[in-house]
Amino acid sequence: MNAYKTIAVRAANRAGDYIAKAFNDRDRIISQSKGLNDFVSNIDEQAEYLIIDTIKKSYPDHAIFAEESGHQGNSDTVWVIDPLDGTTNFLRGIPHFSISIAVRQKGKTVAAVVYDPMQDEMFSAANGSGAQLNNKRLRVSNAKKLENALLATGFPFREGQDLSKYLEYFQALYPHCIDMRRAGSAALDLAYVAAGRLDGFWEFGLSDWDTAAGALIVKEAGGMVSDIKGNQYTGDSASILAANPGLFKHFLQTVKNI
Ligand code: IPD
Ligand code: CA
Ligand code: CA
Ligand code: CA
Repeated sequence: MNAYKTIAVRAANRAGDYIAKAFNDRDRIISQSKGLNDFVSNIDEQAEYLIIDTIKKSYPDHAIFAEESGHQGNSDTVWVIDPLDGTTNFLRGIPHFSISIAVRQKGKTVAAVVYDPMQDEMFSAANGSGAQLNNKRLRVSNAKKLENALLATGFPFREGQDLSKYLEYFQALYPHCIDMRRAGSAALDLAYVAAGRLDGFWEFGLSDWDTAAGALIVKEAGGMVSDIKGNQYTGDSASILAANPGLFKHFLQTVKNI
């Protein structure tokens, strides 16, 4: 196995065990607000510490970019971490959330894991080596038309996000697809596209740590990732679209006049 992926899996398992225990021992959870509708807990912070500690034991010189503690160190190799993707679900006792870890070298993502500790599902990928769920190879779906597509999205719930622009896209897409899920963990939405459970995913206003790992897993499972206009997706893009290649084209066609 790719050496970086091995360490990412180890870190995700360590944080995942910790988060799953806390999920079942709810008196330990202390949450705080970071802004309107935006929460963090002591469990997010401790999980992030455990992940960084695991990485540093093998790669003390690598840099870190993590949601709760920001940037650390300076190196061509950066670990991009979301210690708990789906905090609102976690805080509400909804067992759907994940840990997302990506390794980037000179700007290129080379290894990635998205781990669902409640289902014990480890989605992973290494650049050029395909994507796996636990030890099974992943492949995106082949639904080419929106009519046959189950899509996922995330709503613009944060302060300052453009709800009317979002709704224009929703209006264009929703009448044509099977249905739209809003499950609450963008990293898992991407992993599910890679697994063919979902045919496509789109959202506005995500951060690098939400999508860095999932985007590589989708690509390595044969899918495509861009912004909502079809431009190259980076962690700084204002929107994301991920889908199997056939649906990807149809999706862009449907929203091109917005
Ligand atoms: C959030 C989840 C959610 C998405 C939000 C993210 P967090 O991450 O991925 O699905 O809609 O935009 O911020 O804050 O729970 O790590
Ligand atoms: Ca957050
Ligand atoms: Ca997140
Ligand atoms: Ca998070």
